[in-house]
Amino acid sequence: MEKTPANIKHEMETLVKDLNYHCYRYYVLDSPVISDEEYDKRYRHLKGLEEKYNYVLPDSPTRRVGAPPLDRFEKVKHTEPMLSLDNAFSHDEVREFDERVRRFLKSDKEVEYTVEPKYDGLAMELTYKNGILHKASTRGDGYEGEDVTVNIKTIKAVPLKIEEAEAPEEIDVRGEVYMDIREFEALNREREKRGEPAFANPRNAAAGSVRQLDSSITAKRKLYLACYGAGAMKGISFKSQWEFISWLRKARFPVPSMIKLVKGADAVIDVIMEIEEKRKDFPFEADGAVIKVNEFDLQKTLGMKTREPRWATAYKFPAHQGTTEVKEIIASVGRTGALTPVAFLEPVRIGGVTVSRSTLHNWDEIERKDVRIGDFVVIERAGDVIPHVVSVLKEKRTGKERHFSPPAKCPVCGSAVEREEGGVAYRCIGLNCAAQVRERIKHYASRSAMDIEGLGEKNVELLYSKGLIRHFTDIYKLRKEDLLDLPRYAEKSAQNMIDAIEKSRHTTLARFLYSLGIVHVGEYAAKLLAGNFKDIGDLYHVKPESIMGIKQIGEKIAGSVSIFFNDPENLQTLETLKSLGVKISNPDFRKEKEGKRPLEGLTFVITGTLPRPRNEVEQLIGDLGGRASGSVSGSTDYLVAGEEPGSKLRKAKELGIKVISYEDLLTIIKSVTGS
Ligand code: IVH
Repeated sequence: MEKTPANIKHEMETLVKDLNYHCYRYYVLDSPVISDEEYDKRYRHLKGLEEKYNYVLPDSPTRRVGAPPLDRFEKVKHTEPMLSLDNAFSHDEVREFDERVRRFLKSDKEVEYTVEPKYDGLAMELTYKNGILHKASTRGDGYEGEDVTVNIKTIKAVPLKIEEAEAPEEIDVRGEVYMDIREFEALNREREKRGEPAFANPRNAAAGSVRQLDSSITAKRKLYLACYGAGAMKGISFKSQWEFISWLRKARFPVPSMIKLVKGADAVIDVIMEIEEKRKDFPFEADGAVIKVNEFDLQKTLGMKTREPRWATAYKFPAHQGTTEVKEIIASVGRTGALTPVAFLEPVRIGGVTVSRSTLHNWDEIERKDVRIGDFVVIERAGDVIPHVVSVLKEKRTGKERHFSPPAKCPVCGSAVEREEGGVAYRCIGLNCAAQVRERIKHYASRSAMDIEGLGEKNVELLYSKGLIRHFTDIYKLRKEDLLDLPRYAEKSAQNMIDAIEKSRHTTLARFLYSLGIVHVGEYAAKLLAGNFKDIGDLYHVKPESIMGIKQIGEKIAGSVSIFFNDPENLQTLETLKSLGVKISNPDFRKEKEGKRPLEGLTFVITGTLPRPRNEVEQLIGDLGGRASGSVSGSTDYLVAGEEPGSKLRKAKELGIKVISYEDLLTIIKSVTGS
C-alpha cells in the first residue's frame, strides 16, 4: 500500500491504541497478553515512525519519557477544592459518623456507603480535556497545587487518553499515587547503601518521587495509581460514587483494589474489618479505610465543614509506628559469639502489640542512625518482623544522651571481644560463654535443625538455669523425673518432651550438620555437604581443599567446616552424641553427583514471588548444577521473574539479560533433562 499521510497517521493511531491497551493490561489489570519483547518491538516501530515523520500523537506512549528537567513547578488552581478527610479511630466513631450523616439528612433509613482502602500515598488530580490527559497536579493546600504532568506521565498506570466512545469534554479524576511496599523497601535499602536518608514511609517515598524536577528520576521509581474521586466535569454526570467508579473502570483507570457498596454502619464496619484482615496481603500500604456516602445528591446536601466533607470519613488502622524512649542499649550474645546491640525501650503499643525491645542489628547501624541511650526514636513493627528503629528524633535531645560503644569484654562471660576481620560483627571469644551455649542449644533444637518440639527459648533457659542442660549433648541425658521436679512440667508435658527428644535421635546428615551451628553453615550449605560426604565420619579431620571442590561452597565455608572437624573437642562431642543414640542417615548423598548437571555453568537470579518457595527453586537449580545468585550482574544468564518483581528486573533489562518465568525455567529444565 502506498504511504499517504493519511494512512501513516492511521498506522500510528492503530499502534498507539494497541500499545496503550497492552500497557493497561500490564500495569492496571496486571495480566499482560503479549511478551515484553513484543511490546518493545512495537514501541520501537512507533518511535521510528514518529522520528521519520516528525509527528507524535498526544496519547503516544513515547510521551511518557523524555521531558527535560524543570526549573520549578508551575502552580495549578483546582477547579473544585481537593478536600481532606475527617478521621475515625474506632468502630464507635464510625457509628457516630453514620449517625451524624443520618441526622443531617433527617433520614431514618439506612444510608448507602462505599468503603475502600485508604492508600498511603500522594493525592493527585488528573485533568482530561476531550479525553486527553491535559494536566496532573498535586493537592497542595487543597486549592492550589503544583503541575507535575511530565512526572505523572511516566507512571504507566496513568491513562494518557480516556478510551471511551464518548470521552467527556472535561473531567478531573482524583486518586492516589503510591509506591508498593516492596519497592519502597528496596528503594530505602539502595538509599542507605548510598548513604542517603531513608524515607520514613511509602507516602514520603511517593511524594519525594513525584516532586522531582527531573522526570527521569520519577520514571525510575515504580509508582502506581488508584483513582477514587471526581472533581469538576463537563459533558458527563454521575448519580453516585459507585457509578463513577464503574465508569473509571470501564475507561481503564486503575481503581482501588477492593471497593464495596453497603448499607448502614454495621455493614460498613464489616468491610473495614475485612480490609484490615486483608491488608497484610495488599502490595501497598493501607493506613485505613475510606467511607463515602454513595449518592452524589446526598453528598451535595451534606456539603462540607471547613476543609472536610460531611459525607466521608477515614477510619484509621492502629499505627505500625510509635515513638518511645531508648532506656538502655545492651549487647546480646548469639550462638557464634556475635554481639548484637539491642535497645530496651519504654514500652509502647504499636498496632495492638506492646513493644519493649528493638534490634539495632550492628554497630554500623547504630552509627549510621546515630542512636544513643536516652534518645526518642520512631519504632516500626511491620508484619511478623522484629521491631526496628526507623529514625531518631534529634530535636528531642537534651544533651544527656549517651553513646553506646561495643564492649571490650563479653557482658555475659567476661571474655575478650574481637572485631571480625573485614566484617561488621564483634564477637565474644569465650568458648564456654553461657550465652553462646544457651543459644547453641536453642539452635540445635530448633525446627529446621533437630526439630525438638517444646525445646524453645523459655524451656532452654529454664533447663540451663537449673543445670540440667549445659551442652546440647545433655538433651539426650534428660530423664522424665528431672523434668517433673520443675515448675513448668506436669506428667503429660514431661512425657511429650521426652518423646520429642526420642524422635529427634533419628535424623539426616544435612539436618545434623546444620544443627551443629558451624559458623557460615546454613541449611543450604549443610545440604551440599551431605550431598558430597556420605557419613559424618568422612568429615573428621577434613581439609579445606576437599570441601572447596564442591560447587557453590567457597573458601569461607570450607575453612570454617575444616576448623570445626579438626577440633578434638568437637569430635568428642560428635562421639558423645553417637554414644547417646543419635543415628544419622543420609538420603542426600550423591543425589546431585549421580544426577545430571544440565544447568552446569549457568547462573540464575530470582526476583518476585514464584509459585514455589524461593529456597526450593534455588535448591532445584543447584541440584541440576546451576548457580543461584542473589544479585544481577554481567555474569547472570537468566533472571527468573515471578509476581511483583523487584528492582532486579529493571537491572536485568538494562543489562540485556534474558528474563524468564518460572514456567520457562521448568521448560528449560525439561528440555535439558529430557524428563
Ligand atoms: S477520598 C473528600 N479515598 O487521604 C474526599 N482519599 O486524608 C477526599 N486517600 O487527601 C479523598 N486513599 O490523599 C479518598 N480511597 C481514598 C483514599 C484517599 C487515600 C488520601 C487522599 C486524601 C487524604 C485525606
